Amino acid sequence: MRAPSDLRSRRWFAANDMRAFAHRQRMQQMGLRREDVMGRPIVAIINTWSDLSPCHAHLRERAEAVKRGVLLAGGMPFELPAMSLGEVMVKPTTMLYRNFLAMEVEELLRSLPVDGAVLLGGCDKTTPGLLMGAISMGLPALFCPAGPMLNDRHRGKTVGAGTHTRIFWDELQAGGIDAAEWIRLESRMTRSPGTCNTMGTASTMTAIAEALGMALPGSTSIPAMDSAHPRMAADCGERIVAMIAEDLTPQRILTRGAFLNAAAVEMALGGSTNAVVHIIAMAGRAGVPLSLADLDDMARRVPVLANLFPSGDKLMEDFYYAGGLPALMNRLRDVLSLDEITVTGQPLRAQLEGREATDDDIIRPLSNPVSPHGALAVLTGNLAPNGAVIKPSAASPAFLQHRGRALVFDSQAQMQAAMGDPALDVDENTVLVLRNAGPVGAPGMPEWGNLPLPKKLLQRGVRDMVRLSDARMSGTHYGTCVLHASPESAIGGPLALLRTGDMVELDVPARRIHMEVDDAELARRRAAWTPPPRAYGRGYTQLHQQHVTQAHLGCDLDFLQGTTATPEPAIY
Ligand code: FES
Repeated sequence: MRAPSDLRSRRWFAANDMRAFAHRQRMQQMGLRREDVMGRPIVAIINTWSDLSPCHAHLRERAEAVKRGVLLAGGMPFELPAMSLGEVMVKPTTMLYRNFLAMEVEELLRSLPVDGAVLLGGCDKTTPGLLMGAISMGLPALFCPAGPMLNDRHRGKTVGAGTHTRIFWDELQAGGIDAAEWIRLESRMTRSPGTCNTMGTASTMTAIAEALGMALPGSTSIPAMDSAHPRMAADCGERIVAMIAEDLTPQRILTRGAFLNAAAVEMALGGSTNAVVHIIAMAGRAGVPLSLADLDDMARRVPVLANLFPSGDKLMEDFYYAGGLPALMNRLRDVLSLDEITVTGQPLRAQLEGREATDDDIIRPLSNPVSPHGALAVLTGNLAPNGAVIKPSAASPAFLQHRGRALVFDSQAQMQAAMGDPALDVDENTVLVLRNAGPVGAPGMPEWGNLPLPKKLLQRGVRDMVRLSDARMSGTHYGTCVLHASPESAIGGPLALLRTGDMVELDVPARRIHMEVDDAELARRRAAWTPPPRAYGRGYTQLHQQHVTQAHLGCDLDFLQGTTATPEPAIY
């Protein structure tokens, strides 16, 4: 247990010198009393709210609930804004800024008089960004999820954010709906503040935070607009004060067993392929060895049990009513490491006790999975020597073993321009390929991997094709999309050598992605290859391009990986 006299914040406030006098004086300038910061645990509430982050529109109110919990427990809360990565608005991609947010969180906590932190986020990259920064700083930290938005319905059918946008867009291209209906749909699917309500990246990553032990049990399944949500936020505030006293740091929670638990949950949820990159990056910050092979191994052991879009047909609100993540994890007890300690200070085993699913269609038993195909397969071959990933549960079963002619695009703009061309040389067996969309090339590895289908094929009723890229794919999307090809094309990965007309073979059961081009010809192409020009000559993007690791290593910045300690700031 940490005594009040050992609090880190006392370095700022406790001394009898001119500098500590100034620190206390500035607190009193804000109307605080001397005793408010003397001997009370100081909690940073790191808030990724912004006016351009619709999924976090309620987080200012939730910060107030967290403050209430902190104060009731005898702590002193301070709200600190951090970069808000609203997934849909931030360009070219929030992934470019995940590491930026992680750096900001780490340095906010290091540079200020803070004893522990509650992390408010949920929209896609905010969750791993917040956690990565908190892991690297190493203070007690607890993740408070934004929660999913409410269900919506359109023409009597359940519709969810992201997944249905793609479904209706394809229908518009195919003539299945008209322009007036398309405009009407703008006001549907996003019914309230909160994160996407499908099992997209947001719901996947918040669930992973809980499975890792970094969020309160059941917290990540609560809808953002449920009255349980502000109560949960107050619980977070109350609990972090106790965690500070217990010195319960991320390093005590984030073991290899905790990461394997998170991997099991990712598979059982049919979670986003983006989670692969984020789990490996977080493990890298915690100094825990974790590879694509570990995740593939887990995918072979754990079937998809959560009947949620895009692998199933329900939404997060339904998942909450069915018992939420604790009920799902209870069904996975045999593959989980139940002795792992969580933010509660208790082992996982204790917090799953009695958490039964109330709906066997939404949270399936192991005997009746949503899909016989797993949530993830890691592929290797001469197109991705370091690995690529696919989500078989959201792919067309007929394409899981496929051989087709490549149609290669060098840029998103080139591909978009071609998709409406009625003369495009393409059929349903073609393998659509996009390159220069990886961590360095795009830059930031945007969610372009769900390549659009050619309009003329959509009009003929085609709704899926094999697609291959070094990009990522939105967790809300679906289709037979091979993603994260590593090493990426922009740094000379083999995708750079593929040409239109080459035959590509995809064999998911054999975990293989291969181009039928012999080694001598590949050597000739490599000798003639030159890297694409880089458009960024300054600033954060240049830093990112110089230091980002490849997808199979988590796309962290190389100088932020690992557990090397940074000294506490000198206080003069
Ligand atoms: Fe924020 Fe999907 S856009 S969670």
